[in-house]
Amino acid sequence: MARSRRPAEPTTAQALVQAGIAAAATGLVYGTMYERNNYRVRQVELPILPPGTSPLRILHISDLHMLPGQRVKTAFLHSLTRLRPDFVVDTGDNLSSDRAVPAVMRALEPLLRLPGAFVFGSNDYYAPIPKNPLSYVGLGKKRTSETPLPWRDLRAALTEHGWEDATHRKFHMTVNGVRILIAGVDDPHMEADRYSTIAGPAGPGFDVRIGLTHSPEPRILDAFDADGYDLALAGHTHGGQVCLPTGAIVTNCGIDRSRVKGISAWGRNLMLNVSAGLGNSPFVPIRTFCQPEASLLVLTPQKSKGKEAPVAPLPSTEREPLAVG
Ligand SMILES: [Fe+2]
Repeated sequence: MARSRRPAEPTTAQALVQAGIAAAATGLVYGTMYERNNYRVRQVELPILPPGTSPLRILHISDLHMLPGQRVKTAFLHSLTRLRPDFVVDTGDNLSSDRAVPAVMRALEPLLRLPGAFVFGSNDYYAPIPKNPLSYVGLGKKRTSETPLPWRDLRAALTEHGWEDATHRKFHMTVNGVRILIAGVDDPHMEADRYSTIAGPAGPGFDVRIGLTHSPEPRILDAFDADGYDLALAGHTHGGQVCLPTGAIVTNCGIDRSRVKGISAWGRNLMLNVSAGLGNSPFVPIRTFCQPEASLLVLTPQKSKGKEAPVAPLPSTEREPLAVG
């Protein structure tokens, strides 16, 4: 009778390769099925208002990359009214389909009852296309889409609800008694920015001066800082989207990886908030070590008088995510 032979034990190298493949496969499933739908709110207090001013709660959303039928994302956006924001800022990349404008409007419906302002990103103007992932680390050419999206319809729908299009505009509004100056540029990532249209000192007479840009390109942040803005809001980076436990691999723009999401100081006087965004390209439906997020920025009065008053070290003021969902 023939004796069956036991399969040979894998070598240490083979075992390590197998474990690596298993870990990668687990990460892929986790990032595709769970992490990219694991929405959170990042809340930060920014003591940048003049003493005696009422606090202002700004909800910053970005990079929805909406497709029709995305119910979990829609439910999360609806839940954000629980944060009691005074004002909403949307820094673009709302669309991932030419049929997505109704889906965006349904998702934003409760927030559209609040004052708001927006700028657009490249994924409001042009449909997403598959890209070589190596192009994000400088290897291979980046393809760009030329298939137009219905951004005019989206702009009309948002402005009909009272949100202000800040693209190449400078305007002011008073919310909760806080006098806000807002200015914005078109997406610098596609070199559509014309800062000259809003250039000039932000000036006194406002409690806070806010600059909007989809992509946080240094040339735009430098210009906002030089003109005396207090806060710049941007998206675009997706927080790195496919990150390692040690952090982002790329920012997909001119800022360094330490600023890929969250609050950082820029230049002389500017605070920068980069949103990790709420979506992803339909061709890269994955996030790892980078939850999709909305930001609640609670602007509060400075502790002491004058713009030169030191601002608290902001990363340490970042709070645990709120339980939303
Ligand atoms: Fe985006």
